[in-house]
Amino acid sequence: MTETNHRETGEPIDPIFLERWSPRAYSGETLPTADLMTILDAARWAPSASNNQPWRFVYGVRGTAAFDRLAGLLVDANRRWAEKAGALVFVVSVNRTGAPGDENRRPIPTHSFDAGAAWMALALQARMLGYFAHGMAGVKQEEIPAELNFTEDMKMEAAIAIGRMGDVDALPEDLKAREKPSHRRALAELAFEGQF
Ligand SMILES: Cc1cc2nc3c(=O)[nH]c(=O)nc-3n(C[C@H](O)[C@H](O)[C@H](O)COP(=O)(O)O)c2cc1C
Repeated sequence: MTETNHRETGEPIDPIFLERWSPRAYSGETLPTADLMTILDAARWAPSASNNQPWRFVYGVRGTAAFDRLAGLLVDANRRWAEKAGALVFVVSVNRTGAPGDENRRPIPTHSFDAGAAWMALALQARMLGYFAHGMAGVKQEEIPAELNFTEDMKMEAAIAIGRMGDVDALPEDLKAREKPSHRRALAELAFEGQF
């Protein structure tokens, strides 16, 4: 049994899994580049099929042209709160081994699954440093490949806002109402012995 952050669970998991959540009330403080590199380095150590490491990150620290470019690629519903984050990271996966132009390239069927593992490592390392990481699928998918110079083997996975939590009361009313850690389905609904 673990209980923290208004969340509780029946098994003795580490509290970090309950302490990680996705707030929208960011403080507007810039994320120090050294901390961002620590967070991205944790993501780099995620496991992947054949150790292909098919994740790539495009980042921008608040107050830079890179941050503004990435913020401009979020849908408005996310941009209105995420532009107060300390940094933005776009998680991209590559779906083939080797480099564009190589003849012996092989597909990486697990490219998105592997990139998901990297995102979770990123989110937990951020939390361990006192920050919050909030994933966003709401991005301008059509504009991103050209804006970020994608090669043809790249897939946009999700954007991530990272930063310190700020004043919840500064959020618009509709977002304030949603600003609390969410719960989960029971383990018995999700885990099955041998077969469904
Ligand atoms: C891949 C992914 C995409 C998401 N997209 C959005 C999004 O576009 N906007 C948003 O506000 N939250 C988004 N979220 C946050 C989820 O809604 C949130 O993680 C989920 O409700 C569980 O809550 P928790 O992270 O606070 O535990 C996304 C999360 C993930 C992992």
